[in-house]
Amino acid sequence: MLSEKWISAVLLLQLYCLGSGSCGKVLVWPCDMSHWLNLKVILEALTDRGHEVTVLASQESLIIDYSKPSTLNFEVIPIPQQGDFTNRLNGFLELATKVMPTLPRWQAAKKLQEFLLQVTGYMKFLCEGVVYNQSIMKKLRETKYDVMVIDPVIHCGELVAELLEVPFVYTLRFFMGGTVEKYCGKLPAPPSYVPVIMGGLTDRMTFLERIKNVMLSLFFDFWLEPYDIQFWDQFYSEALGRPTTLCETMGKAEIWLLRTYWDFEFPRPYLPNFEFVGGLHCKPAKPLPKEIEEFVQSSGEHGIVVFSLGSMVRNLTEEKANLIASGLAQIPQKVLWRYQGKKPDTLAANTRIYDWIPQNDLLGHPKTKAFITHGGTNGIYESIYHGVPMVGVPMFADQHDNIAHMKAKGAAVEVNMHTMTSAELRDALKTVIYEPSYKENAMRLSRIHHDQPVKPLDRAVFWIEFVMRHKGAKHLRPAAHNLTWFQYHSLDVIGFLLACMATVIFLVTKCCLFSCRKFGRTGKKKKRE
Ligand SMILES: *[C@@H]1O[C@H](CO)[C@@H](O)[C@H](O)[C@H]1NC(C)=O
Ligand SMILES: *[C@@H]1O[C@H](CO)[C@@H](O)[C@H](O)[C@H]1NC(C)=O
Ligand SMILES: *[C@@H]1O[C@H](CO)[C@@H](O)[C@H](O)[C@H]1NC(C)=O
Repeated sequence: MLSEKWISAVLLLQLYCLGSGSCGKVLVWPCDMSHWLNLKVILEALTDRGHEVTVLASQESLIIDYSKPSTLNFEVIPIPQQGDFTNRLNGFLELATKVMPTLPRWQAAKKLQEFLLQVTGYMKFLCEGVVYNQSIMKKLRETKYDVMVIDPVIHCGELVAELLEVPFVYTLRFFMGGTVEKYCGKLPAPPSYVPVIMGGLTDRMTFLERIKNVMLSLFFDFWLEPYDIQFWDQFYSEALGRPTTLCETMGKAEIWLLRTYWDFEFPRPYLPNFEFVGGLHCKPAKPLPKEIEEFVQSSGEHGIVVFSLGSMVRNLTEEKANLIASGLAQIPQKVLWRYQGKKPDTLAANTRIYDWIPQNDLLGHPKTKAFITHGGTNGIYESIYHGVPMVGVPMFADQHDNIAHMKAKGAAVEVNMHTMTSAELRDALKTVIYEPSYKENAMRLSRIHHDQPVKPLDRAVFWIEFVMRHKGAKHLRPAAHNLTWFQYHSLDVIGFLLACMATVIFLVTKCCLFSCRKFGRTGKKKKRE
């Protein structure tokens, strides 16, 4: 009975899709780890609506499980050096958890960049594995995809789209400190009130902060240049057989789906082909497993604290883990800590360690008082969705920036991973739990998040289907893409007007001098007469 019902429901959906003639074929260029968790939600929504979704997955994937049965199809890209990427990633995590927190932020950003440079080799293999593999390209070409959905963090997706002549949609939080959106996507970002990503500033800046913001903006702008851009410019030009640049190819994205929304962002100018779909993966909480529910209930009126450093950080130094555990021991709440390292010696009875926790269900539990998070976008959004105040321990990538936003909105306290003491962690927790403003602000963000005319996931799906139906979204594309940088800033016009003004001033002064002289002479002549 049940399966029959299910089948007829699926048939109905398919009929709906076939009936309206909008069933399509979607090709996906993903990025592994937390990005994939977010993207998968969109892809599953697309298959639910009857579209056929194929994911180009690297043979060496971490959490993209292409061997499991799924509603998604996978096209596996063979890569020559198995294990290379995983090794590099582990090296990076070591750096990110142990070295980067000790550095000033811009140096940490530089370290991240160095890691990305190392990953270039891997991305090149991956890209060649698709673009120069005749059998894969032939198969992709023959399938006649309607749209590509691309996570730009791993290069090449846009190149595949260009080669297949398929319109594409980006999904991202930001890329290269926001320079890609700004220069390749033409998203305006006046440095006077749009804080540079990773700068940790807010939209209300003092004069000194504005100086910092402009300097950071210059730093990131020129950072983009040496970043192996030249390599990719050349790679793309060779593959396409015409001179082009990475940025020009990226700028062809029809729609940019950004993983934030106005509950998180500071108000800023944006373009019609940018859609803010933050929190699209959030869902109401489901009941907890029995053992966890019992532990949660045992917390009584004090409630619980949920603690996770995300899917990438599995391990801390023993010293740090002990310090954290003894900080957690000093609060009356029960703590559920997702941690895969060795059990710290100072772990108290109020804290339990889990390999994995049902994070969303815990955050939505009425007993949850606070969330200790590394500040990944997915976790932050689950916290906003359920209105839970946060203690942020950011480490790398967008995490500092995410926590800075939540701090500015009054929903989080930041603790420095490197310098923190047990007492600092305890005090931060007490602040967000016992000062009512943090809970109120978190609830305010939650209300803003829930009060949207169309849900973020529906908007993401809408725009992907829109691009399929109309073979692009050219009517939303700003003409800025066809201007040079000096035309964009009207420097040519300003130059021209200045030149005109200078000419006029020059002519007027010349005339004046001439007539003055003449007048002076005639005056003298008159006197003599
Ligand atoms: C091209 O891709 C196919 C299918 O994934 C694979 O079997 C083949 O070995 C690849 N060819 C080359 C030259 O890498
Ligand atoms: C944790 O780190 C230690 C040393 O840094 C390492 O030997 C161990 O394998 C790591 N454990 C996990 C689960 O990653
Ligand atoms: C921009 O340039 C492209 C190719 O260079 C051209 O096809 C397009 O029509 C131009 N768009 C505008 C608005 O001038």
